[in-house]
Amino acid sequence: MRRLGILCSGGDCPGMNACIKAVVDTCDANDIDLIGFNRGYQGLIENDWRELKKIDVANIETISGALIKTSRSPEFMTEKGFRTAIDNLHKNRIEGLIVIGGNGSFRGCRDLVNAGVNVIGIPGTIDNDLFYTERSLGFDTAVQQAVNTITDIKQTMYANDRGTIFKCMGRHCGDIALHAAVSVEADSLAVSEIEYSIPQIVEDVKNSMRHGVTSPVVIMSEGSPLDMEEVAYEIQSQCGITTRSIELGYIQRGGVPTYYDRMLGVRWGVLAVQLLMQDMTNLAVGVKNDKIFSTPLIEVEYVLQEFRMDMVNDLRTLHGLPKLNG
Ligand code: F6P
Repeated sequence: MRRLGILCSGGDCPGMNACIKAVVDTCDANDIDLIGFNRGYQGLIENDWRELKKIDVANIETISGALIKTSRSPEFMTEKGFRTAIDNLHKNRIEGLIVIGGNGSFRGCRDLVNAGVNVIGIPGTIDNDLFYTERSLGFDTAVQQAVNTITDIKQTMYANDRGTIFKCMGRHCGDIALHAAVSVEADSLAVSEIEYSIPQIVEDVKNSMRHGVTSPVVIMSEGSPLDMEEVAYEIQSQCGITTRSIELGYIQRGGVPTYYDRMLGVRWGVLAVQLLMQDMTNLAVGVKNDKIFSTPLIEVEYVLQEFRMDMVNDLRTLHGLPKLNG
């Protein structure tokens, strides 16, 4: 294939730019034309694109966000919008399309595959909820941002003997919360993957306080059904410490990409172009045990993964709490 397209879809993630740059550079080095559709599937529908040359991507790997922007496009899910998108791919003589995005974007990829478009999917989401791959682009940075922010805030909370509830992003996936919680030795963790109650959180906090902790930290995931304010209120009233609740929010998505996310972005970007050059399509790329791979796009939605109870139980052991079953 000699003429490719690329787009980013869904929430942006740190590492997207490194990946875009690697795709551009690989195309440039192999005399392949590359056009970038702005604002994801929506740009495809509106035929909003730009040619991407090496000069356009100089230095973008160091920043988060997405050069060609991203969006969630409800119009792409309509018959008319989808048809227009396909027409524009034909009009622009796109032989293969690279999509960087998360779950919703991968659904779009599968529809494109079924419509005969050659697609490569690159998992780009801080949520880490594409379970066929150990990591998605942006997750590592999101966790690092969460850990840094929690650590900073903890300094002032420690000085004031205050408790803090932090809510991490991740939609329905508790991975950011879990990895952050273990890293900062959180006193309690509440994610949707584990049935947990406010009284249990309060008991965890009391347990830590009995062991001398004066500024307990509770980490919750976005998907947890528990109310963060209620958790803070119960800790404050039952444990006798002023307790604040903090939603970490977009700081997790806007951070400077870690080396790991940049490296993943580069490796997947190169692999995606390589595959298309060899006319290998309709694949999703991923990583396992540090090795990158590709696998059929239409199969990845069926891959499930168990929540990392071993990590949860590491944290619980550290606090002398009984282990939980998966
Ligand atoms: O999917 C990435 C993500 O950041 C989720 O963690 C979060 O639930 C959602 O996007 C937020 O979306 P928006 O940018 O539309 O507020």
